[in-house]
Amino acid sequence: MKKRWHVMTLIVFAVMGVGCENGEHDALVEAPVKTTAISAPDPELMRLWMNSCALCHVTGVGGAPIVGKFDDWADRLEQGNELLLQHTIEGYNNMPPLGYCMACEKDDFAALIEFMTVGTP
Ligand code: HEC
Repeated sequence: MKKRWHVMTLIVFAVMGVGCENGEHDALVEAPVKTTAISAPDPELMRLWMNSCALCHVTGVGGAPIVGKFDDWADRLEQGNELLLQHTIEGYNNMPPLGYCMACEKDDFAALIEFMTVGTP
C-alpha cells in the first residue's frame, strides 16, 4: 500500500509538470543526453521501461524502433540525442508524448533512450 501511494504521488507531480507550457518544458528538451552504454540497468528504470516504452519498443508496434536493434536506430541516432529526447517528450508521429511514462523525469527519458540504443555505435 505504501509503495502504491508513492507511485501515485509521482504521477500527480509528473502531470503537474506536463501541464507547464513554457520555460520548464524547453529546459527538458535542451538537456544533454549521454551516449555511453550502461552496464547494469537501474531496477527502478527498468520498472518504468516495462510499464511504458516496452509496450511498443519490444515488438515494434506502429513502426517503433526495436530495443537494441541496430538497423532500427542507426538513422535515428544520426539526428542527435537532443532531437531523440525532444521527440520522446513532445511525441513524434505514432510515438506518444512522454512515451506513456507520466512518472519519468527528463533524466529518466535520457537514460531510457540510452538503454534502448545500446548496441548501436
Ligand atoms: C504507444 C507506443 C509507444 C510507446 C509507449 C513508446 N514509443 Fe517510442 N516510438 C514509438 C513509435 C511508433 C516510434 C516511431 C515514430 C516514427 O519514427 O514515426 C517511436 C520512436 C521513438 C524514438 C525515436 C524518435 C526519433 O526521432 O526517431 C525514441 C527515442 C523513442 N521512441 C523513445 C521512447 C521512450 C523513451 C519511451 C518510453 C518512455 C517510448 N518511446 C514509448 C512508439 C512508442
